Amino acid sequence: MRPALLQTDLPFPKRQGKVRDVYDLGDELLIVSTDRISAFDWVMPNGIPDKGRILNQLSLFWFRTLGVEHHVIDDQLPPKIVALDPNGDLQGRSIVTRKAKVVPFECVIRGYIEGSGWRDYQKTGSICGIRLPQGLQQCDALREPLFTPATKADSGHDENVSFEQMSLALGAEVACELKERSIEVYRKGSSIAKQRGIIVADTKLEWGWFDGRLILIDEVLTPDSSRFWPASEWQPGRTQASFDKQYLREFLDRTAWDKNSPPPELPGDIVEQTRQRYLAALMQITGQGLA
Ligand SMILES: Nc1ncnc2c1ncn2[C@@H]1O[C@H](COP(=O)(O)OP(=O)(O)O)[C@@H](O)[C@H]1O
Ligand SMILES: [Mg+2]
Repeated sequence: MRPALLQTDLPFPKRQGKVRDVYDLGDELLIVSTDRISAFDWVMPNGIPDKGRILNQLSLFWFRTLGVEHHVIDDQLPPKIVALDPNGDLQGRSIVTRKAKVVPFECVIRGYIEGSGWRDYQKTGSICGIRLPQGLQQCDALREPLFTPATKADSGHDENVSFEQMSLALGAEVACELKERSIEVYRKGSSIAKQRGIIVADTKLEWGWFDGRLILIDEVLTPDSSRFWPASEWQPGRTQASFDKQYLREFLDRTAWDKNSPPPELPGDIVEQTRQRYLAALMQITGQGLA
């Protein structure tokens, strides 16, 4: 069964990401965060209730807090859309945005070493070709945040690339601007999150060109795009408790699923536990529950 999740389908040209439905309204986009959840590059057959609203609310908080030019025009649905959404399915999960030309690289910033960075380091002593000190432990803090871009693959796995490869594709000036501004966003966001008890171990940002400038697009500093760890429990040398989809990944690792075929239906308790983690991240960072 495909994820039904959202009944409303609008009569505008539509592009579907793994999590978001993007409608082209002409001059602007309507971006709807659904309750879909992906792991290991697969969208799960069932969703996490409220997840889209949680992601939308958290991203909006960051867009308003970070002080970086971004794509959001409005967090309210235009009246013509409200009329097409009688059940209110789209309420609280939709934003109207500027239409940007998407930079074809994901800007990944890592302040701690985990995931593919940890695997890379164990094999090569580097992350994406950036040499690191010896003797780092899993989930250790890095002295400086690392910028490790990846290509935005249309389908399948995003691939890490070196900063040089990115510079060749975009020009050195644009690549440098993306790196500096991404690190700046990470520094500011992670310091705010830290004061509220959450470590942002790493995160992925997307940028787009609008009116000749680079603006922040898509989502920012959510549990889908970041690793969030409870700061009070952080201890290098092991995996960390987390507010993100690590819980789901660990469940999937325990099943017989081969990650090369459609994933299994998620059991109710995994759905609920995942939902609780997303909600906890929202509440802890913004100080507010789901609106
Ligand atoms: N302001 C914007 N202008 C153009 N494209 C955007 C904008 N914001 C987000 N996008 C694109 O819309 C899509 C959002 O869907 P999403 O489910 O997040 O995709 P993905 O599966 O790539 O994570 C992505 O392809 C993202 O690059
Ligand atoms: Mg995305």
